[in-house]
Amino acid sequence: MNGIKKILLGLLVILIIIQFVHPARNKSGQAMPNDISKMVAMPGDVQGILKKACYDCHSNNTNYPWYTYVQPMHWFMDYHIHSGKEELNFNEFGTYTPRRQQSKLRSIENSLKDGTMPLFSYTLIHRNAILSEAEKSLIINWVQNSKDILNKKNL
Ligand code: HEC
Repeated sequence: MNGIKKILLGLLVILIIIQFVHPARNKSGQAMPNDISKMVAMPGDVQGILKKACYDCHSNNTNYPWYTYVQPMHWFMDYHIHSGKEELNFNEFGTYTPRRQQSKLRSIENSLKDGTMPLFSYTLIHRNAILSEAEKSLIINWVQNSKDILNKKNL
């Protein structure tokens, strides 16, 4: 066997072995007393958009597509879920300080205006997470309203 074949065979063995190593899935299935919808009304269309485009990385419940059953895709997705949730978790929004809530809402608005969210690597596969201008303005309007409502609540 020449060198290249040995390396390829080695890689194949590693690929097979890592198929058996999976991190715990991000699925809580529990009641969410601190969900953002408990603080501000969330119309169905807003929720639908956030669910399809943001919740996989910014909530406690990820909808895992088939390819995340293949390693190393699961690790890749898991890494994004982990860092995404750390920055912003819609299901834990009520645990944030009023100041942090305002700043997160502002970041959501900016991320949509700048097109930095959802992550580009995610929309490569999740084509329906690419938001139309109408969908973006719906979310932006809702975010602006929510900012006002929460501001008044915390006066
Ligand atoms: C594939 C995973 C993924 C998806 C889907 C996703 N995000 Fe993110 N998001 C992340 C990661 C990872 C970070 C943290 C690192 C970074 O900023 O790139 C982040 C950061 C953010 C931040 C920054 C928080 C801060 O305080 O600065 C906001 C706001 C945000 N995302 C909003 C959204 C919105 C709104 C959507 C849906 C339209 C969305 N994200 C979809 C992974 C994702």
